Amino acid sequence: MGHIEHLSTLFDLKNKAVADVGAGSGAFSAQLFQAGANVSAIEIDSDKVAAARAKLPSDVTVLEGRAEALPLADGSQDLLCYFFSFHHVPQEVQALALQEACRVLKPGGRLHVVEPFPYGSMFDVVRLVEDETEVRTRSHEVMGKLGQGDGAFDLLDKAEYTLSRSYPAFEDFLKQVVRVDPARNRIFEENRAAIEERFEKSLDRSSGGHLLHQPCAAYHFRKQ
Ligand SMILES: C[S@@+](CC[C@H](N)C(=O)[O-])C[C@H]1O[C@@H](n2cnc3c(N)ncnc32)[C@H](O)[C@@H]1O
Repeated sequence: MGHIEHLSTLFDLKNKAVADVGAGSGAFSAQLFQAGANVSAIEIDSDKVAAARAKLPSDVTVLEGRAEALPLADGSQDLLCYFFSFHHVPQEVQALALQEACRVLKPGGRLHVVEPFPYGSMFDVVRLVEDETEVRTRSHEVMGKLGQGDGAFDLLDKAEYTLSRSYPAFEDFLKQVVRVDPARNRIFEENRAAIEERFEKSLDRSSGGHLLHQPCAAYHFRKQ
């Protein structure tokens, strides 16, 4: 199952104004665009903003900005998405980020948040360079509470599925997951052998692939 494949079962993306918050270098912004959405990719990291601008079609708007101060007009979006990015928003501004989601959504607009669980073969490898157990656990708690009588969002759907990513070589994993973050890279340099060994042990080669699996939950809300 893929993020956009699942989202498309809940919401018709065609011609909708969609913001991808914490877009990274835009992998899912590209898929939203392919599905017919008018996409704004929002990302805090200027290097990733540059990478997204270089990679994405020019019709995708790429904006440097923060979840807690979105560079988007009031009531301008049909859908706001967070793919594996909400737990990266600092805890002290997560409530602000949700208020911002509410501000930029149209009445009845949707908020779609997909968060990884702190388990799975992908997690087993990544935890050696950054252990996200606490932040991931907390973000699922935040999503579990949102929509339960806070007067802003109703939970329409929650689904669990596993996202699988292919890393044909260890170097591919390093390039996409480790090198992008100087802190992760530093830890990797101190513990290369153990991390490579864990990667090789964790890879799923069962169907001739080189997959790491990340179980996740997708929370789909409607703004009241
Ligand atoms: C794990 S990456 C996910 C990227 C992309 N959504 C994907 O799934 O490939 C999390 C992203 O959130 C971004 N991010 C962290 N804090 C943010 C914030 N406060 N506002 C916007 N983006 C943020 C990070 O820079 C990073 O690119």
